[in-house]
Amino acid sequence: MIKLNLKNSKLENIEKIIDIKLIKETSKKIFEKSGQGSDFLGWLDLPEKFDKIEYKKMQEVAKKLREKIEVLIVVGIGGSYLGARAADEMIRGLYPKGGCELIYVGNTISSSYTKQVLDYVENKKFGIVNISKSGTTTEPGIAFRVFENLLIKKEGTKSASELIVAVTDKSRGALKTMADAKGYQTFVIPDDIGGRFSVLTPVGIFPLLVAGVDTDAILDGAKKAMNDTKADDLTNTAYQYAAARYILHTKKGYKVETLVSYELQMQMFTEWWKQLFGESEGKDGKGLLPTSVVFSTDLHSLGQFIQEGTKGLLFETILKIKNPLLNLAIPADKDNLDGLNYLQKKSFHEVNNIALQGVVEAHANEGEIPNIILEIDEMNANAFGYLSYWFMKACAMSAYLLDVNPFNQPGVEVYKKNMFKLLGKE
Ligand code: PA5
Repeated sequence: MIKLNLKNSKLENIEKIIDIKLIKETSKKIFEKSGQGSDFLGWLDLPEKFDKIEYKKMQEVAKKLREKIEVLIVVGIGGSYLGARAADEMIRGLYPKGGCELIYVGNTISSSYTKQVLDYVENKKFGIVNISKSGTTTEPGIAFRVFENLLIKKEGTKSASELIVAVTDKSRGALKTMADAKGYQTFVIPDDIGGRFSVLTPVGIFPLLVAGVDTDAILDGAKKAMNDTKADDLTNTAYQYAAARYILHTKKGYKVETLVSYELQMQMFTEWWKQLFGESEGKDGKGLLPTSVVFSTDLHSLGQFIQEGTKGLLFETILKIKNPLLNLAIPADKDNLDGLNYLQKKSFHEVNNIALQGVVEAHANEGEIPNIILEIDEMNANAFGYLSYWFMKACAMSAYLLDVNPFNQPGVEVYKKNMFKLLGKE
């Protein structure tokens, strides 16, 4: 389901460049659960071991909720937010027809943004899903308060409680305590799965069910990726990708990986990917800085830097989508005053793909920017499941190759400590 092309990164003979023993030994850390942070490898076999009873319950609750609301307010931040949004936008596009609208809050402390969303839903039928593994994160905590207050004001306490769902730890944290006390339906984030690896748990699946996304297809796609990435050598494309970025970073000195997409509806997917790799690898003074662009949009801004700016800094990984969600013909014009009739036999997508081809040549050849190309057929639920699982596997391998723990994030605590001190939290 993913075609990996290393030709433009000059690593097509990767098996001759990297010591295969290193790959096999590192793979053991994943499959034998012998590496750092191995308590958080629950996502590894999740596509075949997910809780079917909980899944059925989620389907029932989501269906009932969808019938009552126009908008679902999804409260969460980081790993409790990005996966659902990445999936929703990749699969349904930015202006979906039908299904329930998802709006994300608690991913910022911006009063302007939060108030705008409050005003937007004031006269709409809405429900809330509050997602937090720890159940104590400040941003979603305060956002939930204001949306819960509004819902209770509109619907009354009893009806509001039927429109609120919590996704959290099975027994710990303030969110679990509050949900139980107020009678909110809860779904569980497994103990052995951390935030950025949780998109295939209720964290991602529940809001997507409410949106009307085919979550069976997501899980099928993930299961296929799980089976396709079981080899402990470089026939495993997720490992090939991890090995390529490891060589570019540690042997060739590149410091930045830029994930490139040519579809605006993939932008949040690139945000999810940034968190996955940035938070998993960026520790102990190591790691590639993950950045992203959407072309051709950003060719008219950052494109200049990528083509001619600092050399030896960044390489690109390109997400090439074979078939668009929707295609559009370029119309003919009888006067041709804009001189564009030469394109009239082409579709937007054809032009987009030709742009991709031209950019890869310009960046990889004249620009001397290594390019890794990942090709997928469609932007649908199955492809999302496949791609997200495939990147998680690649990420675990990448972080272990750097000898860091992929599953912790000690650096995130530093700002929290300072903020709580300044806020006077006891
Ligand atoms: O990946 C992670 O672990 C983080 O991004 C968390 O998901 C994020 O900090 C939110 O935490 P919580 O789900 O506990 O509110």
